[in-house]
Amino acid sequence: MSETAKLILHGQEIDLPVITGSENEKAIDISKLRSTTGYITLDPGFKNTGSTQSAITYLDGENGILRYRGYSIEELAENATFLEVAYLLIYGDLPNTEELAYFDESITHHTLVHENMKRFFDAFPQGAHPMGMLSSMIASLSTFYPESQASNRSVTDIEKTIHRLIAKLPTLAAQAYKHNKGLPVMYPRNDQSYCGNFLQMMFGLPTEDYEVNEVVERALNKLLILHADHEQNCSTATVRVVGSSQANLYSSVSAGIAALWGPLHGGANQAVIEMLETIRRDGGGLEKWIDKAKDKNDSFRLMGFGHRVYKNFDPRATIIKVAADEVLEALGVNDPILDIAKELEQVALNDEYFIQRGLYPNVDFYSGIIYRALGIPTDMFTVMFALGRLPGWIGQWKEMTEQSEPIGRPRQVYTGSTSRPYVSLTERG
Ligand code: SDX
Repeated sequence: MSETAKLILHGQEIDLPVITGSENEKAIDISKLRSTTGYITLDPGFKNTGSTQSAITYLDGENGILRYRGYSIEELAENATFLEVAYLLIYGDLPNTEELAYFDESITHHTLVHENMKRFFDAFPQGAHPMGMLSSMIASLSTFYPESQASNRSVTDIEKTIHRLIAKLPTLAAQAYKHNKGLPVMYPRNDQSYCGNFLQMMFGLPTEDYEVNEVVERALNKLLILHADHEQNCSTATVRVVGSSQANLYSSVSAGIAALWGPLHGGANQAVIEMLETIRRDGGGLEKWIDKAKDKNDSFRLMGFGHRVYKNFDPRATIIKVAADEVLEALGVNDPILDIAKELEQVALNDEYFIQRGLYPNVDFYSGIIYRALGIPTDMFTVMFALGRLPGWIGQWKEMTEQSEPIGRPRQVYTGSTSRPYVSLTERG
């Protein structure tokens, strides 16, 4: 017996179907609401609104559960490579040996970018924010591969676009870093792992051999996996909406990078470090900052705290916190702001304001501390988030296109002026 919800409007009873997901999540299907009642629903920030049915990622905010296609984030972070997880998110299952070898081989041979793109970087001012450069570069990839936008684009065209994006994003990210450092670009190599290649493009120099540090490579692999997807978050919802107009995947991902840049979203990892540095420069006293975070009249928020879905703990933060200790110890790095972060977490977790609102450290709270230890500059932190999130964006875009979802176009409640006649400039004075 299918479940329904009853809506009573002006004495009229309307039955609305209830959708039940594979994890028993419930939703009221309002897709026919306006055509049958003339009413719409209103939900700023879509806090109570589902935009799609997806088989990719499952979150349980109350119990801190995160699974990619049914596999727990804990097991994937511990046992998988980032390319295995990328394949899982995009194609639905973990690859077998042959599938992974093909995927890896194809991506390895698409890591170069057109030489013309160097001239784009030359046009950016030194010190340009890498996210601004990256979003522009990814959108401009579509101009080199027009088949990605063709209305008759084939499955092969889409597959090539997917592999090109996964292959070229690290190359372009590293070039953005080198542009700001005024250092020579390092070309990708075919004899390195995905993470190892990124590290040598970032930190390698043509004047010497670069040796990838295994601890750093393993930590980067884990961080990218932890960021790989997160159901309908702000940037993924952006990728879906842009893709729903049949815009190409490069443009959709470029829009996702722009959305991720915001400090309330992926930009939080940079904002956390800036906040901790400010607290340290201010003498390290936490009470003043906790009070500011609680003060409604103060725009200051505890960056890296709170989450739309997780109201007990973000399982990714738990894993990253342990990894931060391991990586700093293995690299012999003593970072005073890690101690401030841990102290801040303890103070906040024992404060009624944060407990009542379910505000706990999220994925961004500790990730910046590891990135610092890996030698990655603060303004590249959100770029690292984008590198991790790319397969999630691609998988969600692919699912949306394969489900032939309608163009994303929300309605509104108009609150402006009602009809009024034009008044000439003379009469307006
Ligand atoms: C990411 O959605 C995802 O999945 C995102 C992400 C992903 O993987 O894609 O997980 C990645 O974006 C993580 C979040 C990174 N952002 C930050 O760390 C920025 C700081 N956090 C917040 O701005 C906030 O918590 C959000 C944006 C994360 C969530 O905001 P919501 O769900 O809209 O909640 P809200 O703003 O309505 O806050 C509810 C209450 C409010 O107080 P009241 O009005 O009820 O009195 O909690 C307060 C807020 O003022 N609050 C905070 C706070 N976060 C929420 N107060 C102080 N400090 C904070 N960080």
